[in-house]
Amino acid sequence: MDQQSKMSTFVIVAPNRDTSQWKDGLQKHLPDHTITIWPEVEDPDTVSGVACWNHPHGSLKDFKNLKLISSLGAGVDHVLSDPDLPVGVPVTRIVDQALTYTMSRYLLGLVLSWHRRFDIYRQEQATHTWNQKANPERNLQIGIMGMGVLGRDIAENLVRLGFEVYGYSRSKKEIDGVTSFAGEEELQSFLNEVNLIINLLPLTKSTQGILDATFFNRLPRPVCLINAARGGHLVEEDLISALDNGKVEQAFLDVFQQEPLPSDHAFWDRKDIFITPHIASITNPDAAIPQIANNWLRAMKGEPLRHKVNRSEGY
Ligand code: GLV
Repeated sequence: MDQQSKMSTFVIVAPNRDTSQWKDGLQKHLPDHTITIWPEVEDPDTVSGVACWNHPHGSLKDFKNLKLISSLGAGVDHVLSDPDLPVGVPVTRIVDQALTYTMSRYLLGLVLSWHRRFDIYRQEQATHTWNQKANPERNLQIGIMGMGVLGRDIAENLVRLGFEVYGYSRSKKEIDGVTSFAGEEELQSFLNEVNLIINLLPLTKSTQGILDATFFNRLPRPVCLINAARGGHLVEEDLISALDNGKVEQAFLDVFQQEPLPSDHAFWDRKDIFITPHIASITNPDAAIPQIANNWLRAMKGEPLRHKVNRSEGY
């Protein structure tokens, strides 16, 4: 057996997901290689690539010849939070235009229904009320936290629709029509401008719990909050207090500290919280599989990888 085929097992480690489509797709792309689903691994020394989604921490540490760790999605927080993640192995994520568009469409749906007050018309329909209000739209100043690929796309869409848009990120971004703020020192100036906040930040050590009581208390006026990033950004009990004390008027949440959201969670019964079950933008295997296969081949040949993340920055 030559060196290449000895080290050509690829393992999908995603215990709570249906991975058969991923396995079949990867196998079709790479017919000469072995693709398996964890924990089925005959010889850990032959494993040179893995793709994961919420892998059990420690499950990659026996793969001594690993050359690629790919996320099965856009986020990599679930990969990088493993304290036993093999050192020095490159980590990549999925960047896909369809995933970006899906996220923007989800966010546009929420922003527009909040802006046009469709919830009110639904209530008025229930009482057969014809009420043509003079200026019915909510006047929005929209702040986007996280101006990566997803943040930029929704920002551009909102600018195109004539909204006032503000961006907040680690480093300042130049986007036509968007007023940009960067770094902790500009967070207050950003918050002063906005009454709708979309969170799309990557989850890192410095953004964990960023949406907490301190954050909500810095808001000069009530906001609508959309969290489509990660549950770990939000301190859930602090959101409840912020809704009760009027700092937050409405929250649209797609992600939670614990998923599935437990059926006895306080969020379910609140009228001022709208819940979706982490569906804002789900990775499409047809788009992601060629990226993963291609990166793995590149990794085995020592070539530069696409969509590699900075392990110490966390995105
Ligand atoms: C979804 O949440 C992803 O990170 O792709």
